Amino acid sequence: MKKAEPYKIKMVEYIRQIPREERIKALETAGYNPFSLKAEDVYIDLITDSGTGAMSDKQWSALMLGDEAYAGSKSFYKLEKVAKEITGYQYVIPTHQGRGAEQVMFPNIITKKGQVVLSNMHFDTTKAHVEIAGGRAINCICKEALDTETYYDFKGNFDLEKLEKYLKEYDKEDIAGIVMTITCNSAGGQPVSLENMKAVKKLADKYGVRCLIDAARYAENAYFIKKREQGYQNKSIRYIAREMFDLADGMMMSAKKDGLANMGGLVCIKDDAELYTNCRSTCVPMEGFPTYGGLSGRDMEALAVGLEEALEDSYLESRIDQIEYLGERLRQAGVPIQYPVGGHAVFVDCKKICPHIPYHQFPAQAVCNAVYIESGVRPVEIGSFLLGRDPDTNENLESDLELMRLTIPRRTYTYNHLDVVADAVIEVYKKRDELKGFEFEYEPKVLRHFTARLKPVK
Ligand code: F0G
Repeated sequence: MKKAEPYKIKMVEYIRQIPREERIKALETAGYNPFSLKAEDVYIDLITDSGTGAMSDKQWSALMLGDEAYAGSKSFYKLEKVAKEITGYQYVIPTHQGRGAEQVMFPNIITKKGQVVLSNMHFDTTKAHVEIAGGRAINCICKEALDTETYYDFKGNFDLEKLEKYLKEYDKEDIAGIVMTITCNSAGGQPVSLENMKAVKKLADKYGVRCLIDAARYAENAYFIKKREQGYQNKSIRYIAREMFDLADGMMMSAKKDGLANMGGLVCIKDDAELYTNCRSTCVPMEGFPTYGGLSGRDMEALAVGLEEALEDSYLESRIDQIEYLGERLRQAGVPIQYPVGGHAVFVDCKKICPHIPYHQFPAQAVCNAVYIESGVRPVEIGSFLLGRDPDTNENLESDLELMRLTIPRRTYTYNHLDVVADAVIEVYKKRDELKGFEFEYEPKVLRHFTARLKPVK
């Protein structure tokens, strides 16, 4: 029997599709950069799954219990209890979002300039905070991740040989730690297996290096393990999550994803009291007093409930099914995507769609813009436009993959919305030979993709 969403809709927010001519104008005004579009000019917003999900009735009612005490808020202790139960860690510090957690953690583990952080793949803000703290971010993603067409269960896995090569190459004092990003957003929301995580932990122990988890989408990762990894079919998501957290010394989390909250983040530390004390001290000037860390009491209440809801099988099954549904519709029409799909988005391989557009004219940006014009759907580019320039030569860097990310917010859109998205992408795919690249009209020096202005190449 067909299964439907494990929730029904209690409140609706109207959205509207502005006419095509207005979309063309809006995109031109936005400098051909979807980040600069007004949200009200967007019909279906797939720019991110971060903080854009729908809260449940239980979360909304929890808001009313928010204790806004500056110090020692009741809401903090509730959140702390839930986070401790899930992770098994001793220490919990709330932060305003994931990058807040990063700015609290990295200055305390990067103690010497030039220390490296090894990850399957750093998210952009993670890399930025490693660098701000004086470190260097190195990625060790498995090679299967770069082959978008071939099925592989765990494309977020570390390349263990590469990881060990770096662990050997650098002295212990020059390595700040390992960050396991689960799921691995930058590789397409791809999961990491417990087998791989165990092997990473074993290497970390062998070389005496600290292991951390970037837990933004840890529940989705646990779900993939349950579905795909031998021996976990009958284990609960909570059990699998705990097994993952047991393999690290601490975690940073953007709670805007698998916390099912619109805002929030966490730093949790297993048992390193000194690291905790240091992070707590950093939290005060950067995020706020350690029992609120940039969040209001009501945010912490909603997060405490969201963390629990995100571990429910029925929720995760429906969540991942939506992504698979969209991915399947595109694949059936011949649109090249990162296959299998990951946990939070369908990543469309635009290098394959637009081989006639060179990387420095941003093929994935061209496809994103065309999809917006076609339908009012707003995707996001993950490719050379986002990657930026080489700091030494100032040349545009060429990304391994030129991807358009169709990021699905949690519990927000229906299968009908996903059909609109699929139809739009398929329509653009049919007209792919007519697409043109883009060049800069204005290029900011840092994180250029957020505010750059582009113009079509003549
Ligand atoms: N780590 C990962 C894996 C992420 O995907 C993100 C954010 C962060 C850390 C930072 O968290 O936004 O709460 O400060 N990813 C969002 C995205 C922005 O669209 O993929 P944040």
